Amino acid sequence: MDEALNAWTNLYTLPEGAVKLLLLIESKCKIFDSIRKNTLKYLYEKHSRENKKFETFLNLLFENRLVAWKSRSKELIRLTFSGYDLLALRSIDKKFSIILFGSNIAKGKESDLYAAECSSIGSCVIKFFRVGRTSFRDVKRKRSFFKLGSSWLVRSTKAAISEEKAYAILKDSEVNVPKFFWRNRHTLVIEYIEGKRLSNLKESELSTDLFYQVVSQVNFMLKKKFVHVDLNSFNILVSNDKKKVYIIDFPQWVPLGHPNSLFYLSRDLNNIASFFKRKGVNLDEEKVINETLNFAKQLIKSE
Ligand SMILES: Nc1ncnc2c1ncn2[C@@H]1O[C@H](COP(=O)(O)OP(=O)(O)OP(=O)(O)O)[C@@H](O)[C@H]1O
Ligand SMILES: [Mg+2]
Repeated sequence: MDEALNAWTNLYTLPEGAVKLLLLIESKCKIFDSIRKNTLKYLYEKHSRENKKFETFLNLLFENRLVAWKSRSKELIRLTFSGYDLLALRSIDKKFSIILFGSNIAKGKESDLYAAECSSIGSCVIKFFRVGRTSFRDVKRKRSFFKLGSSWLVRSTKAAISEEKAYAILKDSEVNVPKFFWRNRHTLVIEYIEGKRLSNLKESELSTDLFYQVVSQVNFMLKKKFVHVDLNSFNILVSNDKKKVYIIDFPQWVPLGHPNSLFYLSRDLNNIASFFKRKGVNLDEEKVINETLNFAKQLIKSE
């Protein structure tokens, strides 16, 4: 069973004392990556009324893969993705009341996405960031936010915060994005979009018009001084009637004032154009790419 499903399975069965212990481990792992068992025992027993149950609760956390040994010989305990997921799911449940959770939408390099149903917001997607799951070099090459923290827990949370910021900037703009509901820790709760990934459309479903719709979205992002940086056919959703395109997946966005923004913008536009051309769509992309780059340059100048 994967991490988030394992967390969901434990959400309602884990005793409150074990959750308190997990929260204590989380608070220390945010700073130190891991915590020595003796220190944990001391801190737990000092603050908890159920201090006799430390070993029982810790065993429960180990058995359910919510924590793991960072070093068995040094008795260093670390939080797992599953443990962090459980704490996030618990907060999301308190806020929105989760009714259904489970069907896995996507397992990406740096995130896992699940469909959920909550009583106060209806169907939604819960995105769990997993920065650090791929190799160090791969992530470092791709993500500027990687430098911001050292542990996977901090990096995943920072990625979620960065995506939350993107949603805040693009909210009330002309850019089509899923509705943003909430962030907790390394997870985002967003609207579920009915449709398909651009990458999954058949050649017969692709058109010049669709390409121009995507370019319009890029221009709308520019009006908000926003560059996506990872725009490709996997990060664009198309409604079933092909009338609306949605842009998703923003943790790596940069403001237009960023020194490399034009490079990223040009790369985003070329990625999209190459995709459409590869699929046999007739394009005069050079003109539209240059127009968009010139628009961006004007915006930079006017800052
Ligand atoms: N709001 C949504 N509604 C429906 N499907 C979604 C939604 N958000 C994402 N998806 C689906 O999940 C996939 C992965 O989502 P996303 O691009 O946000 O993360 P990711 O690709 O795993 O991230 P990374 O690029 O770091 O690997 C998308 O390609 C899309 O198919
Ligand atoms: Mg993606």
